[in-house]
Amino acid sequence: MPLRILGISGSPRRGGNSETLLDICLSTARDRGASTEKFILNTMRFIPCQSCSEIRKDGRCKIQDEMQTLYPSIETADVVIVASPIFFGSVSAQTKMMIDRFQCQWLGINFFKSYKIEKRKQGVFICVEASERNSFLENAKAVIKNFFVTIGATYKYELFCQNVDEKGSVNSRNDCIEKAKEIGRLITER
Ligand SMILES: Cc1cc2nc3c(=O)[nH]c(=O)nc-3n(C[C@H](O)[C@H](O)[C@H](O)COP(=O)(O)O)c2cc1C
Repeated sequence: MPLRILGISGSPRRGGNSETLLDICLSTARDRGASTEKFILNTMRFIPCQSCSEIRKDGRCKIQDEMQTLYPSIETADVVIVASPIFFGSVSAQTKMMIDRFQCQWLGINFFKSYKIEKRKQGVFICVEASERNSFLENAKAVIKNFFVTIGATYKYELFCQNVDEKGSVNSRNDCIEKAKEIGRLITER
């Protein structure tokens, strides 16, 4: 069975800086025999967590929207890569909206003890920002780490690319591109 690598793009900008780095990671891994899948959160139809008063107790979310296509892909992946730009000091709204939809799983694991993670995985975080605010990246990282714990992923690799703003500006950042390739290689070495 080839390694299953799942990429999640949290930017509203198609082909933007974070998605470009994600694509490099995925294509490097694919060239090394991995199977890859990519979700573009901005094109998916799903609503934010409703903090339902009546919830399922089996760790599953009862809202029937396109998030239901993402849950099984996350469950079965060997590696999950989340790519997001920094928006106002944190991950994008699209990324956060996806993460919040794992509250049922968090409750299933930690409160109802009804949900068990079947497959441990590696987690990778790609994040870009226009500025050089390390605290913003740390902020986003804390959110992603919390998410990775909930989906059973070890926070393994990160790629932070600062000083990129215009769409395509990441293409002249060899340091970030090389790091994306390196991560693409590392995640296939298991
Ligand atoms: C709504 C919005 C908020 C942003 N907030 C920040 C910010 O707080 N700090 C920062 O350095 N850049 C900020 N940016 C700039 C983006 O992080 C930057 O343009 C990034 O390269 C976009 O990545 P993308 O092409 O993957 O979408 C913001 C951009 C937008 C559209």
